[in-house]
Amino acid sequence: MFRYELIKEDKHTGARLGKIHTSHGVINTPIFMPVGTQATVKSMTSEDLEEMDANIILGNTYHLYLRPGQEIMEKAGGLHKFMHWDRPILTDSGGFQVFSLNDLRKITEEGVEFCSHLDGSRHFMSPEKSIDMQNTIGADIIMCFDECAPADADYEYTKKSMEMTTRWAKRCKDAHRRPDDQALFGIVQGGMYEDLRAESVRGLTEIDFPGYSIGGLSVGESKDTMYRILDATVPLLPKDKPRYLMGVGSVDALLEGVIRGVDMFDCVLQTRIARNGTAMTSQGKVVVRNATYKEDFTPLDPECDCFVCRNYTRAYLRHLVKCNEILGARLLTYHNLYFTLKLMEKVRNAIMEDNLLAFKESFFQKYGI
Ligand code: GUN
Ligand code: ZN
Repeated sequence: MFRYELIKEDKHTGARLGKIHTSHGVINTPIFMPVGTQATVKSMTSEDLEEMDANIILGNTYHLYLRPGQEIMEKAGGLHKFMHWDRPILTDSGGFQVFSLNDLRKITEEGVEFCSHLDGSRHFMSPEKSIDMQNTIGADIIMCFDECAPADADYEYTKKSMEMTTRWAKRCKDAHRRPDDQALFGIVQGGMYEDLRAESVRGLTEIDFPGYSIGGLSVGESKDTMYRILDATVPLLPKDKPRYLMGVGSVDALLEGVIRGVDMFDCVLQTRIARNGTAMTSQGKVVVRNATYKEDFTPLDPECDCFVCRNYTRAYLRHLVKCNEILGARLLTYHNLYFTLKLMEKVRNAIMEDNLLAFKESFFQKYGI
């Protein structure tokens, strides 16, 4: 089961409110999706994620294919059961990871030969193999196998790569064994070239998918370039399907993406900076390790009502981070995810109340952007 319901379009921006209905529940959009690469959102239990009201989480085909492997995933009865999470899941196809984690890879029309980042063993991934693995993992939303060209790729390379991604998308759709309970999204590529983005949208919408992802962004280009490409891409996508901007989740890009009509986001930033000892707060980033917080017995974010901010002080969190205690990483991860999920809830409310631009202004000002 999969259905996108468009609830409201903002009068002043491209933003929309919607609901995605899946067999594992309803997702209110715009949404932020915590990343659980290896069948875990690092240091969070499924109970934690439910408590913070995460609605949908991400898994990675590349990582689960290498470890624990397809056979275990099959025997486990899929990822929902394996990790005890019964809300929606989205899996990325492995396209991006094969390219970002491997130097020694060979791309042909058939697929990609690559070496495992774990032990160097040789593997082959193709559109068919990626979909087969994603059918076994059993996520509610799955992705086509694509090539994400580097940000600085020239026009010719980017064009050929985008055209191959479109041919791969057709193969993905043909290989999909569970179209009724897993929605397969096409991934728009085309690098930093507006005309290639438009051509990618044309090719993918002709094949027809229940949703569209925008890939190949946040790969080293400037924020302005990313917004320019979004401006050129999102309006071409069908209104009655969800749009997912892959790998983007800094607070400014979340707001700017929503304003341009994006419905779904994911990013490792929240959890990664938490493990480095950085918190996202209503007053901007807080580097918890800093000496300033040594005797600061106030909450991490006075405006946050998560259990970390209700029960622990900056001085305590700083102490944990300084000692490299795993609890420090865990508490900051919880807070950063909670903060981002709450932000998206406020964004949805602002769209509902027709004051998204005013909300953005005041949020950015406080955050220090
Ligand atoms: N995650 C971030 N960017 C991309 C992309 O271009 N393709 C895929 N498959 N995943 C991504
Ligand atoms: Zn908090």
